[in-house]
Amino acid sequence: MTSSPGTGTRARPGTVSAANALHGTVRLPADKSVAHRALLFDAMGHGGAEIRLDHAGADVLSMAGALRALGAVEALTSDAEGVTVVRLRGGGTPEAARLPGAGGEMLDCGNAGTAMRLLAGALAGRPARATLTGDESLTARPMERVAVPLRRMGAVVTTTDGHAPLGIEGHRPLLGLRHDLPVASAQVIGCLALAALAGEGTTTIVAPGPTRDHSERMLAWLGAPIRRDGLTTTIEGPAGFEAHSMSVPGDISSAAAWLVAGALHPRADIRLEGVGLNPSRTGIIEILREMGAQLEVTPDPDVADCPEPVGNITIRGGQPLQAIEIAGARVADVIDELPLIAVAMAAAEGQSEVRDAGELRLKESDRIALVVANLVAIGAAVEEHSDGWLVSRGRPRQAAIRTAGDHRIAMAFAIAALTGVAGSVEIDDPTCAAVSYPSFWTDLEALAR
Ligand code: S3P
Repeated sequence: MTSSPGTGTRARPGTVSAANALHGTVRLPADKSVAHRALLFDAMGHGGAEIRLDHAGADVLSMAGALRALGAVEALTSDAEGVTVVRLRGGGTPEAARLPGAGGEMLDCGNAGTAMRLLAGALAGRPARATLTGDESLTARPMERVAVPLRRMGAVVTTTDGHAPLGIEGHRPLLGLRHDLPVASAQVIGCLALAALAGEGTTTIVAPGPTRDHSERMLAWLGAPIRRDGLTTTIEGPAGFEAHSMSVPGDISSAAAWLVAGALHPRADIRLEGVGLNPSRTGIIEILREMGAQLEVTPDPDVADCPEPVGNITIRGGQPLQAIEIAGARVADVIDELPLIAVAMAAAEGQSEVRDAGELRLKESDRIALVVANLVAIGAAVEEHSDGWLVSRGRPRQAAIRTAGDHRIAMAFAIAALTGVAGSVEIDDPTCAAVSYPSFWTDLEALAR
């Protein structure tokens, strides 16, 4: 801690100051990456299925909305407890997994890059015509990374100067090919895997570095001929798969807010239940442990209705944190957690560094520029690299936080203030947290004493 915690948390939305203590149990929102895939794959698989989601974020609802526009959603209900159930009709036969609609629809993916890139692959190999669009942030993100390999497979894909709106004219059959990807991206791999299932022959996708493997796990669990071996994903097409009902586990990227808060606050005792523990996503646990935080992870072996490992995490504060360097292959495991890790770095003893994270400039915002600007604003000592930052402790001060509508920036700097790494902060757009974590502010209020 670099300052003593104050009393209040939030006087009004977006204003956060230090809590006296952080105590309680959190029910996290459904994992964004897993939920996108559960919805889309079950819309494509044979037979109907139901997806259960806690506190579904706006991105996940964008995917559900696009699938509804395609005629794939039979029912979508949400209850007062924040549980959403989506009933999907299921696609064609197992031999020809397909989406029911796609007769020229305009599909709005909102802020969700995962929805846009996965849908592009799902539609590319089907008798489909669709336009994929999104909000200001999404239409500024690079889309040639999916368009180029899809075109090589035979799909007709147009971009607007490399960006969305993205026009897809499906073509069947596509060609099974080897793709040597220039960027390590799970969204691109998922996109090409879905296209490859409508392809003739073997598709091999080789990534230049590690990525999360949710697509491979879930498609294999549903019976599709796909396997991941290190950096290589192989698909035998054409092939279909079965739909299967699923409960989506809690999002470890959302849990990361409370893991960092728990590590930083001297009077914290926080329990997180039902968290997805896919090994390609647990880098945040390892990094916080390396920094000196005390975390207890208990796997729950009884969760059967999901292809992902699940468990509970408890974190207690009070340990001094040491500086850390994050670079190379480790970056992928924590790519979405780096803004929060930056806040932990700003409280640690010594100088911390992030390198090889240039992809952060292509997320919902330029996250390197915004992390650095907001760290400067809260009083940390920071230097910007083209692919990361160098940071050490400063003198915490009050600050106005600029988010550019980026959920991860809003939550990271709320945690900075809640734990005293910053003075009190005013976040320009607190509502953007709902992109991945709609119950973030109520959970913060419930935990803070
Ligand atoms: C995601 C993969 C990551 C991550 C994003 C979600 C996914 O991006 O940053 O929030 O669900 O596949 P990459 O496609 O760059 O790996």
